[in-house]
Amino acid sequence: MRDNFLWGSSISGGQCEGGYDSRGETVVDIMPQGKGTRFQYLNDPGRYLEHPDEWYPSRNGVEFYSHYKEDIALYGELGFKALRFSVLWSRIFPEGPDHVSEEGLQFYDNVIDELKKHNIEPIITTIHFDMPLWVVTKYNGFYNRETVSLYKEYVQTITDRYADRVRYWISFCEINVMNHALYMVGGTIVPEGKTREEVLLQCAYHKLLANAAFTEICHAKGLLAGCEIAGAPTYTLHASPADYLLKMKADRDNWRYADVMAKGTIPYYFRQDLQRNGVKISEEDQAFLKANTLDFLAPSYYRSNLASSDGTAINPDLQVTPFGWTIDPAGLRIMLNELYERYEKPVLIVENGLGTYDTVEENGRIHDSYRIDYLRKHIEQLKTACEQDGVDVIGYLTWAAMDLVSTSEGMMSKRYGFIYVDLDDQGHGTYARSRKDSFFWYQNVIRTNGEEL
Ligand code: BG6
Repeated sequence: MRDNFLWGSSISGGQCEGGYDSRGETVVDIMPQGKGTRFQYLNDPGRYLEHPDEWYPSRNGVEFYSHYKEDIALYGELGFKALRFSVLWSRIFPEGPDHVSEEGLQFYDNVIDELKKHNIEPIITTIHFDMPLWVVTKYNGFYNRETVSLYKEYVQTITDRYADRVRYWISFCEINVMNHALYMVGGTIVPEGKTREEVLLQCAYHKLLANAAFTEICHAKGLLAGCEIAGAPTYTLHASPADYLLKMKADRDNWRYADVMAKGTIPYYFRQDLQRNGVKISEEDQAFLKANTLDFLAPSYYRSNLASSDGTAINPDLQVTPFGWTIDPAGLRIMLNELYERYEKPVLIVENGLGTYDTVEENGRIHDSYRIDYLRKHIEQLKTACEQDGVDVIGYLTWAAMDLVSTSEGMMSKRYGFIYVDLDDQGHGTYARSRKDSFFWYQNVIRTNGEEL
């Protein structure tokens, strides 16, 4: 792989940070554990107040807040070249737009300095599914244009503070996941009298303006701006026009955000959807989008999708994880080529990994050969995409550096890390960290710059 390739991992504040008492609440703090209930409260943020006994795992995460030195020392031992983490907006502006928390700013100063001490490049995501609750309850998130200004203020504040030590900035985690998780990604509740589609598209438009504002701020300070897209190729089940049309729609839904952010123009199909749903696109906004395009694209990649007009959901040609996610290493190569062909901008892979159950042996060891196998096959495809196809990939960050609270189910037992955290789905455990077999394997991958897999 190229010199200075950014090997490492990602984590996010809402899933690992904890430190609940020293910050404002965020959207994920009101999501209880359990697939059945997890997303139910999201359209009714008041409802969680009536259920104080539920377990809300993101409030504690894995207490990175108090363990960050120990955790970063382990990342140093792994040989990470980069770590992507997110700043919690609610730690910087805990109660509203008028008060900045110096204590909150100081925490990320400490994290960044600790990373630098271990020669790890810090990469910041400004929002990773963690909108402050006050932005939701007072402004209704990105449905409201006012939130673009609030977000700008937040980005100004953190870039002013960290620009001297952080070069790579990512506006949002998986902006396109808004298509199916509007509340979590947009911080928005569908108001009465509006359709979900109308609200989704208004929210998307404002979020794209927010991304352009973020990019403008980064460029004024000489920083590199990126945004995370959930990247996934879509295959057709049958060679039929009906399946192909479904694939075409899925691809458009997937790439429409990146199209705007990377090219600065709204593609015709997206423009038509926006206008049909009452979104006003002004000349001034279009000029602003055009003037502020991203420097790099930051895809996540977990699985591929299937377009089938007969309702088949799982690709019969692929294996799935215990959580039903398809395993498709070649899909990574395809996605990288699709992305690079479309935008021709450097690519930083910011998430890729296997979420599954791990077993701790009596001697405390964790033999996660399945994770090694998954990552090895994906890195092989990454190398082919770079060395054979010519895609300009500048780094590969796995999900996740250590076990943390899963987004979909709020589970700890769906584990992704190289570092095991002793915590169960109900929050019982010592929070002790231990190295899995994959820890030593990835350490060697980084040491040999991807030569030894
Ligand atoms: C990505 C998110 O979508 O997938 C992460 O950016 C998330 O926050 C990851 O954890 C894996 O998904 P899950 O639902 O298994 O945690």
